[in-house]
Amino acid sequence: MMAQFHWTEAMSVGVEALDADHRCLIRIINLLYNVEAAGRDAEHIQSVLETLKLYGRLHFKREERVMQAARFPGASIHRAEHQGFARYLEALRKRYATGDDPEVARELYDYLTGWLCHHVMIQDFAYKPYVNTVGDANAVARNAAPPLPNIAGLTLVSA
Ligand SMILES: [Fe+2]
Ligand SMILES: [Fe+2]
Repeated sequence: MMAQFHWTEAMSVGVEALDADHRCLIRIINLLYNVEAAGRDAEHIQSVLETLKLYGRLHFKREERVMQAARFPGASIHRAEHQGFARYLEALRKRYATGDDPEVARELYDYLTGWLCHHVMIQDFAYKPYVNTVGDANAVARNAAPPLPNIAGLTLVSA
């Protein structure tokens, strides 16, 4: 069953810049929900995929820099999960580029909601107790990568 997601304080990892990224991910998931609800739109899906690629590049850089600053002991396992996300996206992009794959929006939606529940809510939460050891974790996160573009209309990301 597909549903809209809403970010709440209960999802906070304790660093505003990282929470902002996670809110962005939820907006992307909701865009996919709208695609599914409105019917297929190949161009829309392509821009969602481009946006996710950028999302991963910037968000993971921010998060990995914070984990490093906090000396989080699970950082290398965490980084491997981020790499898995990037690999999955790349495989999906290739599969979608080689033919008509009407299931892509649904599959991506399922993957991202799983990612939200298993990576964000469990793996990201694991570093939360460590970020307090960093003087200004939010500044570390912000300085690690530029902010995400406003993705509401998905128009700011070029292929
Ligand atoms: Fe994250
Ligand atoms: Fe993460």
